[in-house]
Amino acid sequence: MKRRLLFICLGNICRSPSAEAIMKKKIEEKGLRDDYYIDSAGISGWHTGEESDRRMQQHAEKRGINLTSRSRKFYPDHDFEQFDMIIGMDEQNINDLSSLASDRKERSKIYKMTDFCLKHTNIKAVPDPYYGGDKGFELVLDILDDACEGLLQFTQNKNTN
Ligand code: 4NP
Repeated sequence: MKRRLLFICLGNICRSPSAEAIMKKKIEEKGLRDDYYIDSAGISGWHTGEESDRRMQQHAEKRGINLTSRSRKFYPDHDFEQFDMIIGMDEQNINDLSSLASDRKERSKIYKMTDFCLKHTNIKAVPDPYYGGDKGFELVLDILDDACEGLLQFTQNKNTN
């Protein structure tokens, strides 16, 4: 069975599409593409149908990461059922997801991205880069690269499927 991972942020145009693309790239490089299904979504539907934020795309491209997904809203009824792990970027995402979960089983699928960091262990959130500058986008990519590595290890070690 495929491991089904859904990355969540507020707008689904900066952090979660980057997490999706980085994770897909790592999985591809390790020859694990058939073992995973990866997607991302936003708590808000503010940017539904839009490409990822142009600034986020430019910073990602410098690292050889292409952001190709279009923004979509998180749909609790569908997504809690369809995914094994629903991974938020900050405490607000976790709180929002928790309030949208309808039972314990759904709540047990919620994780925070920074809990998988191997190097950035003192960082407790992937900070929203939307209103900041270049450094914010670079920090997002640094944290996500680290957390995706940890998440890959976590999901490879876990034999629940
Ligand atoms: P994201 O960043 O949650 O990482 O996609 C944001 C994108 C848009 C907005 C906020 C955060 N916004 O306020 O429109």
